[in-house]
Amino acid sequence: MEAETGYGSISRVAEGYNDKEIPTSVIRVPLTADYRHDLDAMRNAITSKTSMVVITNPNNPTGTLLSYEELEQFVNAVPKHVIVVIDEAYIHFVRDPNYKRAIPLAIANDNVIVLRTFSKVYGLPAMRLGYSVSSTAIQEKILFYMADSIPGVLTQIAGMEAVKDLAHVRRSQQAVWDFRDQCYPVFDRMGLEYIKGEGNFFQVKVGSNRTEIYRELGKRRVQVSTRGGDRMAEWLRVSAGTARETEVFLNELEDILSKSI
Ligand SMILES: Cc1ncc(COP(=O)(O)O)c(C=O)c1O
Repeated sequence: MEAETGYGSISRVAEGYNDKEIPTSVIRVPLTADYRHDLDAMRNAITSKTSMVVITNPNNPTGTLLSYEELEQFVNAVPKHVIVVIDEAYIHFVRDPNYKRAIPLAIANDNVIVLRTFSKVYGLPAMRLGYSVSSTAIQEKILFYMADSIPGVLTQIAGMEAVKDLAHVRRSQQAVWDFRDQCYPVFDRMGLEYIKGEGNFFQVKVGSNRTEIYRELGKRRVQVSTRGGDRMAEWLRVSAGTARETEVFLNELEDILSKSI
């Protein structure tokens, strides 16, 4: 089970099992009106056949964030046969210094696993490195399936060095927070709706000619994305860039919208 719209990669892997003649179905539970996970609806959609619920927090592509307390309540309400996956790929970009991450939930509950990646704040996507925190029972199952894809020694050393480089983490976080601070006032001035995401990206609503605007931005060498399916059909997903790149994006977007293509 996953939110609609969510990141979707684990759900797609699960659906792929149908090709191996292991019948698998994914229940997709719509986000709330304010684009957050609908945890009550997800809880109610669980049946005796549900094996896994995936929650991306902050969510991709909406960037919306669940509090620790909301996640804790959900985990307490979920039957223990269901594995709750909490994907914290973007957790470092949450700005509130008091925000509590989900790792204690994975330590306290045998059916919870928290996923982390080195692809985001640490800037090492090509290393294909991540880690998880969970009970030994879940880790043993994972090891069984990934026996031939253990990261190489150099990759592991890169990861160990990356976690020590706090200055880099702080720089990456600040760059993302500066990007938000640069964009939101401009969107307010332009009267554009946007979701105050907590990832290194956000969604901005540009309207029903989203595809034309997306293409025109591309012609002007500004690459944004159109993720999010039907629910986000009028939105662009914009990832953080440098201050100069962000300025170019904002200028080009404003110019395109003023010509209302
Ligand atoms: C929510 C989420 N989880 C995981 C990943 C994957 O990261 P990795 O590069 O470690 O496969 C991404 C990448 O975009 C993501 O958005």
